[in-house]
Amino acid sequence: MSDRKILITSALPYANGPIHLGHLVEYIQTDIWARFQKKRGNQCHYVCADDTHGTPIMLKADREGITPEELIAQVGKEHLQDFTDFGVAFDNYHSTHSEENKHFSSLIYQRLRDGGHISSRSITQAYDPKKEMFLPDRFIKGDCPKCNAKDQYGDNCEACGATYSPIELQNAVSAVSGEKPIEKDSVHYFFNLADFNDMLKSWTTAEGHLQSEVSNKLAEWLESGLQDWDISRDAPYFGFEIPDAPGKYFYVWLDAPVGYMASFKNLCDKQGLDFDEYWAEDSKTELYHFIGKDIIYFHALFWPAMLNGANFRTPSAVFAHGFLTVNGEKMSKSRGTFIKARTYLDHLDPEYLRYYFAAKLSAGIDDIDLSFEDFTLRVNSDLVGKVVNIASRCSGFIKKRFDGKLSEQCVEPELFAQFTGASESIAALYETREYGKAMREIMALADKANQYIDEKKPWLVAKEEGKEQELHDICSIGINLFRLLVGYLSPVLPKLATDSEDFLNIDAQQWITKQTTPLLSHDIKAFKALMTRVDETKIAAILEESKENLEKIAEPIVSQFEPIAPEIEFDDFAKIDLRIAKIIKAEHVKGANKLLQLTVDIGDETLNVFAGIKSAYAPEDLEGKLTVVVANLKPRKMKFGLSEGMVLAAGPGGESLWVLHPDDGATAGMRVK
Ligand code: MSP
Ligand code: ZN
Repeated sequence: MSDRKILITSALPYANGPIHLGHLVEYIQTDIWARFQKKRGNQCHYVCADDTHGTPIMLKADREGITPEELIAQVGKEHLQDFTDFGVAFDNYHSTHSEENKHFSSLIYQRLRDGGHISSRSITQAYDPKKEMFLPDRFIKGDCPKCNAKDQYGDNCEACGATYSPIELQNAVSAVSGEKPIEKDSVHYFFNLADFNDMLKSWTTAEGHLQSEVSNKLAEWLESGLQDWDISRDAPYFGFEIPDAPGKYFYVWLDAPVGYMASFKNLCDKQGLDFDEYWAEDSKTELYHFIGKDIIYFHALFWPAMLNGANFRTPSAVFAHGFLTVNGEKMSKSRGTFIKARTYLDHLDPEYLRYYFAAKLSAGIDDIDLSFEDFTLRVNSDLVGKVVNIASRCSGFIKKRFDGKLSEQCVEPELFAQFTGASESIAALYETREYGKAMREIMALADKANQYIDEKKPWLVAKEEGKEQELHDICSIGINLFRLLVGYLSPVLPKLATDSEDFLNIDAQQWITKQTTPLLSHDIKAFKALMTRVDETKIAAILEESKENLEKIAEPIVSQFEPIAPEIEFDDFAKIDLRIAKIIKAEHVKGANKLLQLTVDIGDETLNVFAGIKSAYAPEDLEGKLTVVVANLKPRKMKFGLSEGMVLAAGPGGESLWVLHPDDGATAGMRVK
């Protein structure tokens, strides 16, 4: 076995929200890999941290009436607890708001600057005169300059697909204060990414650094030429001030990946490890970043360029994974499928989810789906029905008839050798992150073990006279095969492994090899249920609770109270034909993030209406309901079709949006006056 030195990271979760099941795909994927590497005898360190800087965190603390430091301390604690309870065992969990991170961010910046890779120039941006801050795109909303669709955030229109500068939005308001933004100039600092064009072309195409689909995607970006990257933000900003540029702060994405170094440095200081051995330009150690496919740009372009320009080593590889969908759809708050880690933990065994994700994961970047039906089936049939079942079928006889001691001989050396012989091929699947294939190979072995027991029928042998030895041998084989299966599954199911090792009365197992020998004349302990079947009522409870707690945490990012519009004449109002409408059909719109397509009945006709309410409602929650629509609005051609009316809803947007419903008694077609 080799003696590799490996540093592994997962992306640093933002400190402005709870860990959810989507995040866990990544942390579980990484944790399995780290545990596997350690079992193989490699020196491996798995570090992570909270990503604590930036405008959203600053504003969230503001809304909660606490300091950003208080917010990130509290969230950091919750994140780590969630991870720990899911068996994600970091060697260090740190924060980007740390001395180490400040040091390395400044150092990298200074080295880039001294190398001539930083430039500065003045740019014009939207500014909130009331809050006295520059507004990131997503904090400006207004009407689309092309199609007039209301409430568009940032720089593209969800309704017609137009892209523009946020400054062009009509009736633009700051989503922070409701104030009209003004334009203001300010000096910004840029990282000249184009200086690294050649370096990045070879880095992104060199064997092993990136998955092929990722490398191909990047080739397109690299062909079209790299833009300078704006790495500064103006005060007020929660982050690190840029050395030699007072009032300017590092943009959160500059110091976030540096957080990997910072967390590792913090670990080095605690454990006496050699930081430079891992990060110096000529390092012989391995460095791997596990990330989601949404943040490839930062990890496969900006980050290697920053490291290269600052004379540090570049990553050995960046491993991207796909996104989690639940029951075939994007996680949705209204459907209750936006499930927080804690909500899951309150009801179900975390190892179910670890196994399920492992069974679904591959080395690619395809999205993975959590279907609760499939989840229940796999856990029940594989883990409970196949693996744990072997131990429960055999251990009773060992305990009752043989005083808890295994047989002194192994009567099936070939079967045992088949199991140990699989160790390198299973290892190769773990190593290449083909966990789904690894699980299938392990379950095929579990099937063999069960077949063996089915054929030998120890429950019948037990009733026959003079077959003590045979019974003893059969059950001992079963227990020995169970032990090997648990060894293979241990990176995925650390708790099942520990509990089983306790039952088997053995030390924590290293990776199984061909040389692994059976346990003979060995005392085992009494069998306890190692894992129980999935209780489906718990799943229902999770979905239900996820709906509830999201209603509670859905909080507007805008003040609820927009200023009252200028006075109008009664005649102006009378022009608007408001009707009670019955929503007879509600559907998703392919390719639209915010829109639902509604068919509404307004008495003697039906209208086709596109409404930007997808983040607040699932289609099935709307069908059959009554609401109010503007029935005489001039039809508008949108990217997705013709919209013939407008549904009335209140609220600042996002999840905080409430469609109006009339009291009982109103019927479709009635005019609202
Ligand atoms: N803070 C940045 C990462 C900085 S790394 C230097 C960030 N944070 S995040 O909290 O939004 O996401 C953390 C990780 O979880 C990312 O790799 C992201 O891709 C992953 N996921 C977040 N939601 C996810 C799903 N629904 N499905 C799978 N992974 C997801 O990005
Ligand atoms: Zn538009």
